[in-house]
Amino acid sequence: MVTGEETIRAVQRSPVRWIVLVVDRSQISLLAHADHPVAAPISERRVSQLVGRLRPPAGSSVLDLGCGEGLWLLATAASNPGVTCTGVDLSVSALGQARRHADAQGIDVRWVPGDAATWTEGAYEAVICVGASHAFGGLDGTLAAVRRLLRPGGRVLIGDTIWERPPSDAAQQALDAGPNDFPDLAGLVERVLQDEFEVLDGHVSTLEEWDDYEWAWTGALTRWATSTAGTALCRPSRRTPRRTAPPGRLAERLPPRAGLRLPGFAGPAQRRISAATS
Ligand SMILES: C[S@@+](CC[C@H](N)C(=O)[O-])C[C@H]1O[C@@H](n2cnc3c(N)ncnc32)[C@H](O)[C@@H]1O
Repeated sequence: MVTGEETIRAVQRSPVRWIVLVVDRSQISLLAHADHPVAAPISERRVSQLVGRLRPPAGSSVLDLGCGEGLWLLATAASNPGVTCTGVDLSVSALGQARRHADAQGIDVRWVPGDAATWTEGAYEAVICVGASHAFGGLDGTLAAVRRLLRPGGRVLIGDTIWERPPSDAAQQALDAGPNDFPDLAGLVERVLQDEFEVLDGHVSTLEEWDDYEWAWTGALTRWATSTAGTALCRPSRRTPRRTAPPGRLAERLPPRAGLRLPGFAGPAQRRISAATS
């Protein structure tokens, strides 16, 4: 499999002057999460509090389905020495980054490239699945998959989307989702209870967490784009680039806060490089 870095090096060596660069989605995700490696709108403080509720006994095993860069699992492993941790993800680049994070912290985790939806190996004291329920066709499929992998009495940590209030037309359009595509908080809890789980804790992303997350990924991509502008990799174009996240509509893209508008904008920005022509 050709990695993003190999593609970039090949493009840099190429004698062709004008190039359209296609970066694979997982590579874009890696670039986007440079400043916020948890791929969810939540603070590090709440991540460590929530994994603290899992309390896997020494000698047991924990599984993260769709682990991404592995921050939930790393927090679990760091606070539970003697527990075997396994992270599964389709993205080889995300797992490479997870391995680098783990090595930097001296933590031993098993990172497995693969489809979480077909994972059947093992029985776990705790299963984590945050932001990856689409791999199982939604919340129902995720709960069913987790149930098959969890030991009796085991714990699960699921992160999924809710509507905080009935969504406006603009919010539905921006998210390409209907009112019945996600439950509200009460509906989510009810669904989990129906599956014979007891709820131990919960967290609804705050507006501040959403802001941190959205600005972190849009800023990281902008930084990457501007730092590669003018290199062989990325020539300036006369066309006005399309914004990834128009600030005026940003809040409408956020499920729990759909319908709100951001009152203003303040924060670090990078001056544009004027579009030179050649
Ligand atoms: C929104 S990210 C969440 C990552 C991580 N759980 C976190 O909270 O930081 C979703 C992750 O699910 C992974 N994913 C999507 N479909 C998958 C599948 N069928 N099997 C394994 N991983 C999958 C993606 O590669 C991505 O890393």
